[in-house]
Amino acid sequence: MRKSMYWDESLSVGCDLIDGQHKELINLVTELEESARSGLTNEQLARALKFIVSYTRHHFLAEEELMKSIGFNELPHHRELHNELVHKVTEILLQMKEGKDPEAPNLIQFFIEWVKKHVNEEDRKIGTYWRKWSNGAKVMDCRIKSVSERRAAIIPRLDKLKELFRIKLIEIDDFKAKKQSLFEGLFVELGPNKIAEGLSDLDHFLKVDIIGSKERDMIIEGYLRKLNPEADLEVISEVEDKLIFVRLLRERELITEEKFNQLKTRILEAI
Ligand SMILES: [Fe+2]
Repeated sequence: MRKSMYWDESLSVGCDLIDGQHKELINLVTELEESARSGLTNEQLARALKFIVSYTRHHFLAEEELMKSIGFNELPHHRELHNELVHKVTEILLQMKEGKDPEAPNLIQFFIEWVKKHVNEEDRKIGTYWRKWSNGAKVMDCRIKSVSERRAAIIPRLDKLKELFRIKLIEIDDFKAKKQSLFEGLFVELGPNKIAEGLSDLDHFLKVDIIGSKERDMIIEGYLRKLNPEADLEVISEVEDKLIFVRLLRERELITEEKFNQLKTRILEAI
């Protein structure tokens, strides 16, 4: 069957990590198109939508970080478009929870059209902007990194912050907040599926005294607050990782004991 959307170099935003996510997104759209043709049950549809919300939120955060780092001038508008999609899909999910019929084919069609238009028109602008300023170079510091590279990349940025604080250009509160978001960025980059890797990065930084144990907790909590427990759980593939995820949420009281037990039961059902 002919695919209705392909990735090609003209869609590149100059960053392997984001390009890879766009390829995955295009694959997802193609798969959805195919399964929608044979008809989806409401349950299948809800699962697909939860995945979409979670995946796109993770992807959008990473893409917004990229736009910030290259100084892309249309970031506020672009972010608005992202938020609109997340709201729309979340709203539909809520309606489905209340038992309303979501008109599955229209919904899937809406998402497919949104992705095609957004990647083709809006995301393409990021690449065009970047190529204009960089003569076609890849965005520095933007590709899938090895563990040691990922960890090493944070050090010069932290040193820069220390320097800014030392010469009194930023306050201690600015320093602390920025340091926290720098480390939260590790989790954002890895995505909810690799939370265990993010935790082992933090343990490494704790061991070499770059962060304290209180900071470690605040970083984890800060990141978890950005997530949507139920939707993000859907993107995590391994049972162990799913359990780590819900346990972290419970430990930090971001979900109730009742919710924790509910999620745990659902995870164990898959075994
Ligand atoms: Fe985008």
